[in-house]
Amino acid sequence: MYVRMKQRACKKAGILSETYDLPEDTSEEELIDQIQKLNHDGDVHGILVQLPLPDHIDEEEVIDAISPGKDVDGFSPRNIYRLFHGDDFLSAATPQGIVTMLDLLPVELKGKDAVIINRSTIVGKPLIFMLLDRDVTVHVCHSKTEDLSSKTKKADILVTAVGLRESDDDPYFITEDMVKDDAIVIDVATPKGDVDFEVVKEKASYITPVPGGVGPMTIAMLLRNVLAAYSYLQNQTNIFIVDAIDYGGYTS
Ligand code: GUN
Repeated sequence: MYVRMKQRACKKAGILSETYDLPEDTSEEELIDQIQKLNHDGDVHGILVQLPLPDHIDEEEVIDAISPGKDVDGFSPRNIYRLFHGDDFLSAATPQGIVTMLDLLPVELKGKDAVIINRSTIVGKPLIFMLLDRDVTVHVCHSKTEDLSSKTKKADILVTAVGLRESDDDPYFITEDMVKDDAIVIDVATPKGDVDFEVVKEKASYITPVPGGVGPMTIAMLLRNVLAAYSYLQNQTNIFIVDAIDYGGYTS
């Protein structure tokens, strides 16, 4: 489903995309060979390997094989290092979508307290650096955090990416009593949101819905990364600051 969504977004934006649907028993070597071919193909500006990979393949080795200049997921060591140093040239699309939304709000982020409920390499960890870079005070919570509610209640910006709900009957992870008045609430969970949206929207100053919030922003930022990678490979600079609203209707 994610791959289809990415293909559709590329097509709509006028970016040519090619999908290599490899069999599950493809060896790590074969996969890395395929990546090397794409690394050397001058017509290819962005490469991503959809995760997770089968158990017999070492994810780290595969990601490491992607040329950092074409790593549109922002997962390669070089790009993580860049982010660590405040350079988001090619960085993970989901956290990038979150900070892009925050940047577009008429709200001073400097000095605000953010609580992130997630510590994954794809969402929580890159988001720490992106928010720190905006002078936000960052608190990270996870499955072992004690008394979560006492932390979330202090959050000016609450980002939640737990994703435990499987059906509409399952209880919400973030209820109204856990949210500070006028907080900015970003719900990253899929396919069902963590937040009791209908109730919390009355308390929050800004809130993202599921679906239709972080998801489309993630895809928009992936396209942004393709454009940044293209520009990098053309030896151009300074297209990195882009207005998310311009992404052909992919953002709301
Ligand atoms: N699987 C789950 N999220 C992602 C992502 O952002 N990129 C890739 N390549 N695979 C994923």
